[in-house]
Amino acid sequence: MINKNIASLKQSSTLLINEKVKALRTKGDQISHFGFGQSPFPIHHSIINALQEHAHNNHYLPVAGLEALREQIAFFLGSFQNIKTQKESIFIGPGSKELLYQSILIFEGTFLIPKGSWVSYIPQIAAKGGKYHLIATDLKNDFKITAADLDVFFKNKAPKKQYILILNSPNNPTGAVYSAEEYKALAIACRKYNLIVFSDEIYSQINFSAQFSASISTFYPEKTIVFGGLSKVFSAGGYRLGFMRLPSDFEVHQDVYKALFSETFSCVSSPVQFAAQKAYEFEQDLQNQVRDLSFILKRVSEYIYKEFTDISIECTKSQGAFYMVIGFNNFKSQISKRGIHTSIDLATHVLEKYKVAMLPGVDFGFEKEELFFRIAFVDFDGEKVMKMYQKSQEVSLDFLKQYTPNIMEGVEKIKTFIADLAD
Ligand SMILES: Cc1ncc(COP(=O)(O)O)c(C=O)c1O
Repeated sequence: MINKNIASLKQSSTLLINEKVKALRTKGDQISHFGFGQSPFPIHHSIINALQEHAHNNHYLPVAGLEALREQIAFFLGSFQNIKTQKESIFIGPGSKELLYQSILIFEGTFLIPKGSWVSYIPQIAAKGGKYHLIATDLKNDFKITAADLDVFFKNKAPKKQYILILNSPNNPTGAVYSAEEYKALAIACRKYNLIVFSDEIYSQINFSAQFSASISTFYPEKTIVFGGLSKVFSAGGYRLGFMRLPSDFEVHQDVYKALFSETFSCVSSPVQFAAQKAYEFEQDLQNQVRDLSFILKRVSEYIYKEFTDISIECTKSQGAFYMVIGFNNFKSQISKRGIHTSIDLATHVLEKYKVAMLPGVDFGFEKEELFFRIAFVDFDGEKVMKMYQKSQEVSLDFLKQYTPNIMEGVEKIKTFIADLAD
């Protein structure tokens, strides 16, 4: 017998689709891969050098993380995320995913997940046998929640119960970014309902119009835990290093975290922590790289948005990260005539017939009958694209044609799918 909560889990759909695409590609199929959200850009050489320099370090480090790294992240958050903090509040873990999971384990309460949220929150809650509610959201607002949505949820609810709201901006799957004003209004509601907030800010600096994204912790500092890490902004997912910042109200829980860390992962790989220290110095050249990759992603997202909205495919307007949600709900009757009624079946159909991989909306909290999908627009050679952009300082249509051919091809295939619906 195994734990029934764990038995109900299935392998993360992002990883599964990636395996399916690999298998099809091995078979010789030309697949446009909008399924997997990994940064395509190279790791900055200064981070690689720091990793190499510390490769000899075979010591365990303190469970909460290397002190100099915690200090460096406190500096980074203050300078590049507008979150004033001290090193004692920073904890280092093997990816923000693990830190989110450990936080979900530690806090009692019911979780609130906006409809249109990252794939792993719900399975992580399910793994502990926790309770959650989805908060209704709307495409018109790029699936962001508002204070009014929380008011609707809390109408007639017992006020004393503990709730934990999970927010993510820039957002995976929508690419939406909450503005400071939106967060200000949400913070008032969070205070009214005494919510704990987990603010997943892993994409903060991949923002299409600013150096970093607003944080709800600025407006609701007392009960917001901020999560971040190397994976996205620094293109180092495989390094497996994330951090979290505990707010002042939770200082009393620092020892709980340290105890759980010490009994589970002990500490993050030592050389990687030294490499991360270099990353979070966030020197000018690295800042420029993040600015450039954000600009490239912005251009790619604008291209896809225009091509799709022109033919009535619904799209969220990405303002950061490397995703958008697209929808085929305007074509529901033609699609159902083909015997397809769910986003899961439609994803399989589009993959098999049109050779385009996308993730069905069910993985992000949408109903299976809602024909929403997440597309990740990173199926290109990031190193080459970055090099060419740094030469040309422009991302024109020709540039996209030349250096992001899989994206262009994928868009064309989806347009063919829509055209075929008219037959
Ligand atoms: C929204 C979001 N949060 C957290 C993570 C986890 O990142 P990591 O564990 O690599 O820090 C991801 C990665 O895909 C993500 O998209």
